Amino acid sequence: MSKPKTVLITGASRGLGRSLSLAIAKAGHNVVIHGRDEKRLYALKGEIAKYNVACEIVSGDIVEGQTIQKLTDCANRHEVDVLINNAGDYLGKSVSEMSISEFRKIIEVNLIAPVILTKKIFELFKKRKFGLIVNINSLAGKNFSDLEAAYSAGKHGLRGFMGSFQFEALRANVLIINIYSGAMSTDMSAGRKDHDKFIDPDEMADVICKMLDGARTMRIGELDILRRIY
Ligand SMILES: NC(=O)c1ccc[n+]([C@@H]2O[C@H](COP(=O)([O-])OP(=O)(O)OC[C@H]3O[C@@H](n4cnc5c(N)ncnc54)[C@H](OP(=O)(O)O)[C@@H]3O)[C@@H](O)[C@H]2O)c1
Repeated sequence: MSKPKTVLITGASRGLGRSLSLAIAKAGHNVVIHGRDEKRLYALKGEIAKYNVACEIVSGDIVEGQTIQKLTDCANRHEVDVLINNAGDYLGKSVSEMSISEFRKIIEVNLIAPVILTKKIFELFKKRKFGLIVNINSLAGKNFSDLEAAYSAGKHGLRGFMGSFQFEALRANVLIINIYSGAMSTDMSAGRKDHDKFIDPDEMADVICKMLDGARTMRIGELDILRRIY
């Protein structure tokens, strides 16, 4: 991203979203950081202050309409250039053990909320004839794996939506990039075997941040990012 931009990152309070917010602010871009945990968001804002960029907090559950509205209003006010759909939730359970309300929640957070937010922010991007939408997907959004039916359904759904939407978006000069990450060492994967060997979210954030720099000159649509040992 050549000139300083304003980047909205959902799920910025922890994990990859936090690392991305810091990397993007360090590169000189303004950030809008979102999550439910206000204490963590204010602590992150304090860390970002050393980079002398603007940082706005929007808090709330992403599945609630009023949170999406607050994010949309903030994006309009600050003329956001880049939306990073990062907030996500995980469920590692057999279908027999999974309740329908657990399934609905995973689909709400990982598919319905980013779709609604994208649809709202796309209206702003269309007016400005510019925009970049980055979706933090997962290898679970391309592959099938045991005990991940709900998570996989949400991520596959996001891939399908964004893959088809990209044609309409491109006509409005809005680029969509889908990142398919391998396992990262964040709270989401805590307790899993070999957690310490998973990709460090700071390292992942640096790769994504560098990729964003070239995004307007190179046509990147889908990107798998895995640890080399896999
Ligand atoms: N970790 C992995 O191995 C892995 C692998 C591939 C892809 N991914 C994807 O990478 C993205 C980031 O995951 P992560 O590993 O960084 O997870 P994480 O450490 O658990 O962080 C998840 C973030 O999403 C936010 N979030 C979750 N549910 C929310 C809700 N209902 N409303 C608002 N915010 C919500 C959390 O904020 P609050 O708690 O403050 O609400 C937090 O900031 C996700 O989309 C995930 O699917 C992760």
